[in-house]
Amino acid sequence: MCGIVGYVGKQQGLDIALEALRRMEYRGYDSSGIAIIGDDGGIQSVKRAGQLANLVDKISETGRDHLVGHTAIGHTRWATHGRPTDENAHPHVSFDGKVAIVHNGIIENFAPLREELERDAIEMKSVTDSEVAAHLLARAYNDGETAGDFRASALAVLNRLEGAFTLLFTHADHPGEIIAARRSTPLIVGVGDGETFLGSDVAAFIEFTRDAVELGQDTVVVINSDGYELLNFDGSPAEGRPFTIDWDLAAAEKGGYDSFMIKEIHEQPAAVRDTLAGHFVDGRIRLDEDGLTDDDLRNLDKVYVVACGSAYHSGLLAKYAIEHWVRIPVEIEVASEFRYRDPILDKRTLVIAVSQSGETADTLEAVRHAKAQGARVLAVCNTNGAQIPRESDAVLYTHAGPEIGVASTKAFLAQVAANYIVGLALAQARGTKYPDEITDIWEDLETIPAKIEKLLSCDEKVAQIADTLGAIRTMLFLGRGVGFPVALEGALKLKELAYIHAEGFPAGELKHGPIALIEEDLPVVVIVPSPNGVKVLHSKIVSNIQEIRARGAKTIVIAEDGDTSVEPFANWLIRIPESSSIMQPLLATVPLQFLAADIARHCGNDDIDKPRNLAKSVTVE
Ligand code: M6R
Repeated sequence: MCGIVGYVGKQQGLDIALEALRRMEYRGYDSSGIAIIGDDGGIQSVKRAGQLANLVDKISETGRDHLVGHTAIGHTRWATHGRPTDENAHPHVSFDGKVAIVHNGIIENFAPLREELERDAIEMKSVTDSEVAAHLLARAYNDGETAGDFRASALAVLNRLEGAFTLLFTHADHPGEIIAARRSTPLIVGVGDGETFLGSDVAAFIEFTRDAVELGQDTVVVINSDGYELLNFDGSPAEGRPFTIDWDLAAAEKGGYDSFMIKEIHEQPAAVRDTLAGHFVDGRIRLDEDGLTDDDLRNLDKVYVVACGSAYHSGLLAKYAIEHWVRIPVEIEVASEFRYRDPILDKRTLVIAVSQSGETADTLEAVRHAKAQGARVLAVCNTNGAQIPRESDAVLYTHAGPEIGVASTKAFLAQVAANYIVGLALAQARGTKYPDEITDIWEDLETIPAKIEKLLSCDEKVAQIADTLGAIRTMLFLGRGVGFPVALEGALKLKELAYIHAEGFPAGELKHGPIALIEEDLPVVVIVPSPNGVKVLHSKIVSNIQEIRARGAKTIVIAEDGDTSVEPFANWLIRIPESSSIMQPLLATVPLQFLAADIARHCGNDDIDKPRNLAKSVTVE
């Protein structure tokens, strides 16, 4: 949930740390801080509540002279324990001023550890769970069996901690060295020429090296400017997985757009195209996976999709597609509910875990629960080597590239495309669609990127609508069939970005309660199904639009090119390209992304990349 950077090398640690925090600020922006370990020892730390800009201002005020050194750690925080204040910001420095640490995750046994330290008259400066790690390390280094041994002290501390953590330890007596560890939260090593990096993700060091190393669960890494060494928590040697980063720097930059989110909306044609690439070869769907064979897919009798937020909405669409194409029951469940509900799982169940980050704690725990019950798990993930794909039997990567905006856009569309690939692979393996039918669906899917490209020009129309909407207190989103998950996604975007109450409903539910919410001038978005799909669905939603218009609502209607039936009932009409029903969500979502961003700006929320209270990856349950 937080962003962490570590650096040892030839450059000034302050510059590297600040740049890395800038790139990782999407991971948390309640506070930030850095510690520099001077080349002759001595730790200088500076931290500030609020966005990174506050830290930069603070450094400009106080000057950089005291922040000189080639070893640095940095942190950008999404608060869990303790409010976002200067005191609770990381790094935390030990009672003797010799240890500085940064932490991502939750130290679950911090309370007894804190009491133990307080009994030793060690005074806590923050109310975080993290601070105990700094004092424990200082105490282990100062006294007892591990005295004077940085590595042994760090291992001793790590073995006392429970919960999920990425921790970076520095010690004033060991400039030029950082000891770090990960358990269930991410940490990647970047290997440069005469410099070594640590980051919560590769964005921390992508400017300087493409050579990275993925660490296994419960791994310790010791870095200096010459490289790294991996250990298990018992001190024995461990192995990592070296890989080459295939993003380019531009992918992690705004590229001329004023926000990452708007840039990422424009990257959606490529995100879908790249996700589809290579999965239909010689007339056959290729899931591209050793982990799940056609036999495995044939032996299933049930599918679950587990995910959170936007990924969950993509999973709803998987249910529509898979049940329709494969005639196998598909249940979709919010990951945080899944494992506590005792779902019925066995070796004939396929659990599809959808996650952009691959580190969402709720989804990860759902994967672990499913595996423990004997189910097969397929991860649909956008982040190479993240924990969820690592713990799954198989993975289908989406190729949306790095998504920095906290509100998911291109990753969502890529997830929908990937879920459809899974559906087609199942239909092929189980013979529920003939090869020519699969080819037709695939060709339909392949037309989508160009249609999204065309649709991007709806941004001006959407901006005009947002201009004329005026003050909004609440907004409803209605859809039927595959339009329902789109309605949920549109409402989620608006909530996240504009902080406006918004709800998505199946349009048919309206008369069962929600219609009571309709009042004069209430804006209601209606996603109209393709008139070329199920006729009855289309005509029913046209009736729904009339019902809400008759009660004073202002309708923003999303309808296909050429669908004139809705014109009389639309206060505003946004056109999307024609498509088959099942593909329509890949189009209808796009104007709703723009709409949320535009309304957010009207509400004065200019920093749409970093909505309040949120972080990109939710690595705590
Ligand atoms: O990384 P994940 O796909 O697992 O994240 C799941 C949700 O936290 C995420 O989709 C969230 O709802 C987004 N902020 C939505 O825009």
